Amino acid sequence: MTSQKIEIKPAEGKLGILMVGLGAVSTTFVAGVELSKKGLGKPIGSMTQMGHIRLGKRTDNNSPLIKDFVPLAGLKDLVFGAWDVFEDDAYAAAIKAGVLKKEDLDPIKNELSQIKPWPAAFDKNFVKKLEGQHIKPGKRRDWAKAIEKDIQEFKEAHQVQRLVMIWCGSTEVFNRPGSAHENLNAFEKALDENDSSISPSMVYAYVALKQGIPFANGAPNLTTDMNALETLAMETQTPISGKDFKTGQTLMKTILAPGFKARYLGISGWFSTNILGNRDGEVLDDPESFKTKETSKLGVLDTILQPELYPDLYKDLYHKVRINYYPPRGDDKEGWDNIDIRGWLDYPMQIKVDFLCKDSILAAPLVLDLVLYMDLAKRAGLKGIQEWLSFYYKSPLTAPGLYPEHNLFIQEIKLKNTLRYLMGEDQITHLGREYYE
Ligand SMILES: NC(=O)c1ccc[n+]([C@@H]2O[C@H](COP(=O)([O-])OP(=O)(O)OC[C@H]3O[C@@H](n4cnc5c(N)ncnc54)[C@H](O)[C@@H]3O)[C@@H](O)[C@H]2O)c1
Repeated sequence: MTSQKIEIKPAEGKLGILMVGLGAVSTTFVAGVELSKKGLGKPIGSMTQMGHIRLGKRTDNNSPLIKDFVPLAGLKDLVFGAWDVFEDDAYAAAIKAGVLKKEDLDPIKNELSQIKPWPAAFDKNFVKKLEGQHIKPGKRRDWAKAIEKDIQEFKEAHQVQRLVMIWCGSTEVFNRPGSAHENLNAFEKALDENDSSISPSMVYAYVALKQGIPFANGAPNLTTDMNALETLAMETQTPISGKDFKTGQTLMKTILAPGFKARYLGISGWFSTNILGNRDGEVLDDPESFKTKETSKLGVLDTILQPELYPDLYKDLYHKVRINYYPPRGDDKEGWDNIDIRGWLDYPMQIKVDFLCKDSILAAPLVLDLVLYMDLAKRAGLKGIQEWLSFYYKSPLTAPGLYPEHNLFIQEIKLKNTLRYLMGEDQITHLGREYYE
C-alpha cells in the first residue's frame, strides 16, 4: 500500500539530548557517539547508523541506508545535557561505571568532561539504595521549575533547535497508577501539593511534555504510563515511548520464543537468572525496584506464546526471573536461561543459554536510535505513544485496550513499515506481490 509522503520538518540545527541519569548507559552512549564522530569506533547495534531498508520489489535491488532514506539528525549535530544525583562529569562517571576502558575514553576526555550534570529531582523513597548528594532543593513544583530553567539555559548556551529527553536513570520502586495520575488536572494538583505519588521521573516527563519535548523511558518505571501524561502528550503534540530498554536476557527471550512458537514446540518452564555488579544491579537489589523490573521482564512470554490459543503447548508454563547483585562482575552481566521444551508426543528437551553480556554496550545503541527516531516522530507530527518503537522496549507502551507486541521480528517489520509510510513508500507485507505481477 503506497501512502502519501508525510510532511516532515527538516533536521536542521542542533539536537539537544537531555539524559536523566548520567550512569553506565548514558555515558557509554555519549562516548560511543563521540568516538564514532572521530572515526575511533563503530556504532554497532544501531539501526539508524548501520541498518538498510528494502524499498519496492526484491527485484528492484533498492536497499538504501536508513539514515540516507529518512531525514534523521546527524551525529555531529547532537549535544548532551544530563541530571544526576552525583556530581561527577561524564568522563568521571564513565570511569566509575567501568564499562569502557580508560584508553578508549581518553581521546574524548575533553568532550565528556564538559558534560556536568545538573542537580537531580530526587526522592529517596523511589530509589532506596541511592544516597542523593547533588539534588534540587524544595518540593515537586520547585523541581519542575528548576528543570525548566536547566533546559532553557542549555538551549541558549548550545544554540539548540530541538530537544529530546530520555530516562536513563535508576529504576524507581513499583508503582501503580492512582487517583493523581487519572487526569491532567489531578496530576497538576498533586504536583502543587507535593503528593508523594508523583515520582521524580514523572516530574521530568511532565516538564518535557509541557514544552513539547519528546520523552523516552529506558527504565520500567510508571513515568508516562498513565492517562494524565498521555493526555498531556496528545495536547502538546509530543511523542512518548517506553518502557525499559530491551537488551540482554529479554532480548534473547523475544528472539527465541517466537521461534519455538513458529515450530509449535511446547514449553513447560523458563527459568532465567542473572548476576550483575553495576550500580543498576545494586539498585535492583532493593525488592521494590526489583518488582518493577520483574513485572517488565515477566510480561513478554504470555503475549508471544498466547497460551489461551495454545493451551496444549503453553498453558502450564512456569516462568521465573531472578536478578542477583554480584559486585565482582561490574557491568559484565551473566544471564542464564534454562528452557524446558516439549516436542512430538510431549517428549521433553532442554535448552541452556548462557549470555555473557555487557549491559551498557547493548543499551547504548538503543539510546541513540530512540533519540533520533523520537526527534523524527516529532518533526513528522506524530504524537502520543509511539508503538512503532516497541522494538526497543521490554514493556512497550500501548494505546488503552491494546496488548503490546513483544515479538522482535514483528516489531522490526512495524518499525520499518512506519519509516516506509512516513516517506510515502510501499509498505512490505511479504505477501509476494511479485508472484502475481
Ligand atoms: N542494558 C541495560 O543496561 C539496561 C536495560 C534496560 C533498562 N536499563 C535501565 O536503564 C537505567 C540506567 O541503567 P544504568 O546501568 O546506566 O544505571 P546506573 O545506575 O549506572 O545509572 C543511573 C543513574 O541515574 C541516576 N539517578 C537516579 N535517580 C535519578 C534522578 N531522580 N534524577 C537524575 N538521576 C538519577 C543515578 O545516580 C545513576 O547515576 C536503569 O534504570 C536500568 O534499569 C538498563
